[in-house]
Formats: sequence, structure tokens, C-alpha cells
Amino acid sequence: MLPPKLHAFFCLCSCFALVHTFDWQDLNPVTHIKSSAWVSKIQAQMGAALFGQIKIPRGSGPYSVGCTDLMFEYTNKSTFLRLYYPSQDDEYVETLLIPNEEYFFGTSKYLGMHWFMGKILNFFYGSLTTPANWNARLRTGEKYPLIVFSHGIGAFRTIYSAIGIDLASHGFIVAAVEHRDQSASATYYFNDQYAAETMNKTWLYFKTLKQGEDEETLRNEQVQQRAKECSQALNYILCTDCKKPMKNVLDIEFDLKQLTDSIDRNKIAIMGHSFGAATTIQALHDDQRFRCGIAVDAWMFPLREEVLSRFSQPLFFINAEHFQYRANIIKMKKCYSPGKERKMITIRGAVHLNFVDISLLKATILGYIVTLKGEIDAKVVIDLNNKASLAFLQKHLELQKGFDQWDYLIEGEDDNLIPGTNIDTTNH
Ligand SMILES: *[C@@H]1O[C@H](CO)[C@@H](O)[C@H](O)[C@H]1NC(C)=O
Ligand SMILES: *[C@@H]1O[C@H](CO)[C@@H](O)[C@H](O)[C@H]1NC(C)=O
Repeated sequence: MLPPKLHAFFCLCSCFALVHTFDWQDLNPVTHIKSSAWVSKIQAQMGAALFGQIKIPRGSGPYSVGCTDLMFEYTNKSTFLRLYYPSQDDEYVETLLIPNEEYFFGTSKYLGMHWFMGKILNFFYGSLTTPANWNARLRTGEKYPLIVFSHGIGAFRTIYSAIGIDLASHGFIVAAVEHRDQSASATYYFNDQYAAETMNKTWLYFKTLKQGEDEETLRNEQVQQRAKECSQALNYILCTDCKKPMKNVLDIEFDLKQLTDSIDRNKIAIMGHSFGAATTIQALHDDQRFRCGIAVDAWMFPLREEVLSRFSQPLFFINAEHFQYRANIIKMKKCYSPGKERKMITIRGAVHLNFVDISLLKATILGYIVTLKGEIDAKVVIDLNNKASLAFLQKHLELQKGFDQWDYLIEGEDDNLIPGTNIDTTNH
């Protein structure tokens, strides 16, 4: 069972109708399309019509935000992450939201569609940007708390920028890892130094469950690998076993020593969405350096029962009303025990994908395929998620900021929130 219950209102006809004007019969229409100027004009106009003026919001905090990609070491054991951080104020260009066409192919595979849908998605979404200054210099003079972020199934490192940017704008460094367990729609690595220097990427796509394969076993192996990848990202960022200076194997200059020096090593949290929220719990269990965790609309299925009661760091469940179900909530409640800090809120009218960037865009194409919108404004969902998270992080990382102004959100005291859950688990 996959967590986002995909309501397949797939309407390829409408996609075809939209793109039909461009010589559809051409063998490789997208390459053809890209070559002509009039088409990019039309693409931009259609983009505006499809997305409206809705953009991913700038961070609401006082810091400007930079963004870069870091990869450490080679092969599928390497660490890959997108970093959001407080930046110097200089002018930079915005960050490309989905930087490679292969992510769209992977998304198509995940959604069980023909790879050509990836071409279509790339055509409409491939040039979207997010409001972070690409590869800007890190703002110095302060030590920042660190959040490691884990993405959901079928997702990848870049599409939680509305969360990453907002937290960074409040003075956090956010490391959004891209998992190599084949639960990401796609990811890539380099086999060796030569491959990195020649930009010869090896792509690893989403693994579909084979007939007869036991899903519980696969997902549990994956969640364990994911948690290890979060810890490994932390090792690299903190330069824990650094024998030589760290190197970003991507061809991007970024001062890694300054990054390591700018982190408050006692203030580290983990956060994730869906499968990433299960990863959050596994990582709390496996790695004591994570002092607290935020599980955003957690999918509990991958976790072994014994993990649930065997970690003591504070944990915050932020749920979407339309995703949660009884078995999932029952498993969440197994994390509760006297003396442990556990909090749970539910966002009214929210759907599972409200926490992913794409939900913020006035997009129609993907909206035909998956449920991106609930009855609540997508921006309100992200805003509640971020403010409640900041309040929780201030409390458990002992920060001296003003985030306690949102303490009431942790208790679910807001018209858009339900304290605890909407799911009845009593007569069980
Ligand atoms: C990494 O690649 C090796 C060799 O190709 C393979 O045996 C292994 O299963 C892969 N590991 C993961 C975690 O995917
Ligand atoms: C890229 O790497 C693969 C093996 O990982 C190799 O087979 C291929 O020849 C390489 N391509 C180039 C252009 O070097």
C-alpha cells in the first residue's frame, strides 16, 4: 500500500489537447519544441496560465536564504543533499526547483505512467524556480541549529523548499537528503572521481514492488537505510571523522569548512514527510545526536513495532486530516509513554501532498493525477506546519528566539487545527 492514496483523475486527453499545437507527431517533440523561440514564448504563457502568479513563498523570517547541493563521496553509498541556509544579502539567481529531467521520468514511473509523461511534466514544471539564492555565501557570525530533512516516497530532495526556505529564513541550516534506497522517484550518483569530473551520472530510479514481494520487509529495509543516510549526512556536515578536508564532488564551489564551523553541534533535529517521517522516528531511535523529531503526516507502516517505544527524544506529529487512518494512528500512539514528550496536531482539510511544493502552485496537470489540494489553502497548511515546528524546535533545542509565540499551535489551538487526531481509536 502506498501512502498517498492516488486518486487517479488522470486526464491525459487534456494534456494532449494542451500540447497538441506543437507538432505532436514529431519523434521527439520536446527536443523539437525546445529549439524554437516561439514555442518557449508559448510555454511561458501557458506556464503563467497554468500556475497563475502563485509562487513558492519567500521565507517569513529575518534571514535571506541561500541554497546549494552537496554530494560527498562516490557510488550509491555517497551522501547527496540540498542545503538551505541563512545567506549573505548579495543578489543571486533563484534556485531551479527540479533540476533534472530524470526526476520527471522517475515521477512517471512512481505514478505508474508512461515515461513520456515525464517529458510532459518536464515541459511544464522544468523551469520552475524557488525563492532561495542559488549558491549564495553562508552568512557568518552566528552558529545555527541544524535540521536534517527526509523526503517522502516517490519524492526527492528538492521539492520541500517551502519548508526548507522558511526554516532557514528563521536561522536554521536545513539539509534535505536524497535517499538512495530506491524510494525516491529518481536520484543519481557518480561511480568514481573520473565519472564526477566528466559529469557521467548514474541514475537510480524508483523501485516498483514486484509481484509477491513482501512490502513490509522492503519498506523496513528502506527505512533503516534511510535513517543511516541521515546519520551519514550528519557525519559529513559536522565533519565527524574528517581525515582530510571534505570535498563536494558536484562541480559547485561552496565553503564546507565554514559550514561545519557555523553549526551549533548540540542543536540538531530531524524532520521528514510521509516515509521521511517514518525515517525521522527510525533515526531518533538509531542516533542520539538527533535531539528531537518532527514527523509530518507520518506513514508508520515501514517501522518495526519495537522501535516505537525505544527512543526518548521529543517527537511532534503533524498530521493531515484527509490522510490519516486508524492503523497508522494506533502505531503513532505506541510511541507514547509516561515521561516522554509526544505531541500531535491535525490540520483540518489538509491532504497528504499539501506539504510538498507542487501543492502550492496553481498547477493543473499534476493536479489531474494526484490530489494536491485539500479544502484548505495550501499556503495556510505550510504556514501552520512551519510555525508549529519552529515553536517545537525552540522548546526542545533550547533556542532563544521568538518562536514560543506559536506555542499554542503545538497544542492544536487554532481554527484550522484539531488537537491530537480526527481518528477515533478508542473501541479497539
Ligand atoms: C549499491 O550498488 C551495489 C553494486 O551495484 C549493490 O550490490 C547494492 O545493493 C547497492 N546498494 C544499495 C543500498 O542500493
Ligand atoms: C559512464 O559510466 C558508465 C559506467 O558507470 C560507463 O559504462 C560509460 O562508458 C561512461 N560514459 C562515459 C561517456 O564516460
